[in-house]
Amino acid sequence: MEINYQETSNDLLTRIRIHETYGARNIDQWNTEVLNPTAGMKILDVGCGAGKQCFLYSDFTNRQADITGTDFSDELLGKAIEKLALRGDKNIKFGFMDFNKRFDFEDNSFDLLSSAFAIYYAADLKFTFTEAHRVLKPGRRLFVTGPLPENKQMFYEIIKEATSQPIPPMPGSSRFKGDIYQTIESIFTKTELLKFENPITFPAVEPFIEYVRASLSEDRKLWTSMFNGKDEYEALIGKITDVATRWFNRDGKLVMTKVVGGILAAK
Ligand SMILES: C[S@@+](CC[C@H](N)C(=O)[O-])C[C@H]1O[C@@H](n2cnc3c(N)ncnc32)[C@H](O)[C@@H]1O
Repeated sequence: MEINYQETSNDLLTRIRIHETYGARNIDQWNTEVLNPTAGMKILDVGCGAGKQCFLYSDFTNRQADITGTDFSDELLGKAIEKLALRGDKNIKFGFMDFNKRFDFEDNSFDLLSSAFAIYYAADLKFTFTEAHRVLKPGRRLFVTGPLPENKQMFYEIIKEATSQPIPPMPGSSRFKGDIYQTIESIFTKTELLKFENPITFPAVEPFIEYVRASLSEDRKLWTSMFNGKDEYEALIGKITDVATRWFNRDGKLVMTKVVGGILAAK
């Protein structure tokens, strides 16, 4: 399956900021509770974007873990490198890697392979997760997070009401519990599915619409089925704003729950 997916850095950073501002729970805390990364570990982050999880693991280990963040977006890697220069962590490096190609690392190199909202977009799951398995040391863990099918239900319901159109299955969430879990289970051992729920409460319509706009690159399949060109896009956003305003006036708030799955497995 070929999935063209290119995140834009502004969209990704806007969504991260909105999750952090209006979310009830902290996904980073969940992440480190699950993994408990320790000093001396060699960690590979696949699809690191602007480096969020790399900086998290670095802070959690007091800069004592050896962290490699990889991505195929030069724009996002640029952001990550900029932030690294400001922070000065000597234990993190960032580099280009397309997870649809052979990983440029030796066998049995890493103590932990983490991939947040990224690797599940792989074109050939078997190939990519076989590569992930190859570069991990025996007994060490893989942790992959992504959306579960019940993720962001309110977001999709508002879009459905605004457009009177069915929502196509999202490539991430529709595959996560099925194909992706099964592929990992067939290659790794001790595979388990964990769940993290985070209600995001928007105190006004405007930040919700900001989130809707910032989901364009993530939910590309949804969006491209609904408009052609800038004018149609703005007309669609207008309709979504009307529905969201009606919901907000009815309920006094807009609550969208992020439902995240974490697949944890060992080599
Ligand atoms: C939703 S972002 C998540 C980024 C980061 N892990 C975070 O949580 O902030 C998905 C990332 O996957 C990257 N990505 C998508 N396809 C890729 C590929 N074939 N190879 C490497 N990275 C890819 C994107 O560039 C983007 O940085």
